[in-house]
Amino acid sequence: MQLTEAEVAVLQQRAAEAARNSYSPYSHFRVGAAILLHPDVRQDGAMVAGTNVENASYRLTCCAEQAAIAAAVTLYGPQIRIRAVAIANLNGAASMPCGACRQTILEFSTPETAVFYPNADGETVSTTLAELLPAAFRLATE
Ligand code: THU
Repeated sequence: MQLTEAEVAVLQQRAAEAARNSYSPYSHFRVGAAILLHPDVRQDGAMVAGTNVENASYRLTCCAEQAAIAAAVTLYGPQIRIRAVAIANLNGAASMPCGACRQTILEFSTPETAVFYPNADGETVSTTLAELLPAAFRLATE
């Protein structure tokens, strides 16, 4: 089922709140991500947020989306499925999920997983993970 505008707004708000805790002394790009979990697996309506955590060894940086997913698995277990992800930043910039984050979201996605992110004009882009990551890599054993 599609999310209502109000549900998307709440998810975006949670993402923006998480971005306020961003640890980004190198890029100064303050990102937050909030995920809405699928109601099928018990945690009806649960939302979990994360922010980016950078490191002086730059490549060790953890993206906001990955932080949110790690927190959700920690809180609710390995069976979680993501109904929607909203991304926000406090820099007034576009922030679509990076390639690595798309692959990380895929791991817990369904064919309908929705993604909301701001474009460069601050407008919300509403899309799906399937659209953002076509021909995605999955293990053949799945
Ligand atoms: N970043 C995210 O948190 N999510 C993304 O999908 C793209 C990039 C963070 C990583 C780094 O801290 C900063 O944004 C600049 O790349």
